[in-house]
Amino acid sequence: MRPSTLLQLFLLAVLLLASGTTAEKEIDCGIRMSCQNEERTKSKTQQNTNTNKSNMALAARLSGHRRGAATAPHTLEVFLDYVCPFSAKIYKKLNDEVLPFLDKEHPGKVSFIFRQQVQPWHPISTEVNEAGLAIERLAPNKFFEFSTLLFEHQKDYFDENVADKSRNDTYRSLSALAEKVGVDRQQFLDLLIIPTGPNVEVKNGGNKLQNDLKLVIRAGRQNGIHVSPTVLWDGIADTSVSSGWDLAQWKEWLDGRFSATGRPSL
Ligand SMILES: *[C@@H]1O[C@H](CO)[C@@H](O)[C@H](O)[C@H]1NC(C)=O
Ligand SMILES: *[C@@H]1O[C@H](CO)[C@@H](O)[C@H](O)[C@H]1NC(C)=O
Repeated sequence: MRPSTLLQLFLLAVLLLASGTTAEKEIDCGIRMSCQNEERTKSKTQQNTNTNKSNMALAARLSGHRRGAATAPHTLEVFLDYVCPFSAKIYKKLNDEVLPFLDKEHPGKVSFIFRQQVQPWHPISTEVNEAGLAIERLAPNKFFEFSTLLFEHQKDYFDENVADKSRNDTYRSLSALAEKVGVDRQQFLDLLIIPTGPNVEVKNGGNKLQNDLKLVIRAGRQNGIHVSPTVLWDGIADTSVSSGWDLAQWKEWLDGRFSATGRPSL
């Protein structure tokens, strides 16, 4: 041990002895008090609806982004961008193999949340993600089916293929995919297309999905999510997860999550 480390330890010990356990108690008490205050301000109804914590993690208007019951004891969240090839890869693995495995081997244990991660270095990512939000609005039960279809067609929206496309062109092309999952093309376009023309006031107001887009972007920013895909287990990001994993690797990782003692150190 270096002398400076020894000195630090000595000073720490002196400090602890001098303060006894008072500091610890104060912190503990402070937390308890603020919890009590919160409880007091909560109405009976609020307490009831807040019982299941996992319900709070996803806005009700994004409920189609969840697969499995909100009351499941675990939550697997994946931040995905429709125009990211690695997102397409991990989504396919999850959709085709991992989630069916969980349904079979751990039924009711995991709630899966699709988090839309807009990545502005692919400018079209915004528009393609808006399409996902339009489906959530018009037919939430089609959200996963539409997302699968979008990932299958993601190449149509890669930078080189859209360099010369207008915003209207992109929405129209996306509306053809919406139609494939049974969503009315016109209703879909009405949510997305910005009215223009000589009689339209220029106010930079965005389209009808702007607030939903802000909501999903904020969820990523608030969690410090930068790139897709990013995987979270019970709210904690795990950068060890790879889009290249096969089912065996997923199973091993999941085993570690389910076992009470086998969880790796955070
Ligand atoms: C909370 O979870 C329980 C059991 O999982 C369920 O019966 C109840 O309906 C849930 N409450 C809400 C508000 O979702
Ligand atoms: C975009 O499409 C809408 C609906 O067809 C149309 O009203 C609008 O003029 C178009 N905008 C431009 C700039 O072409």
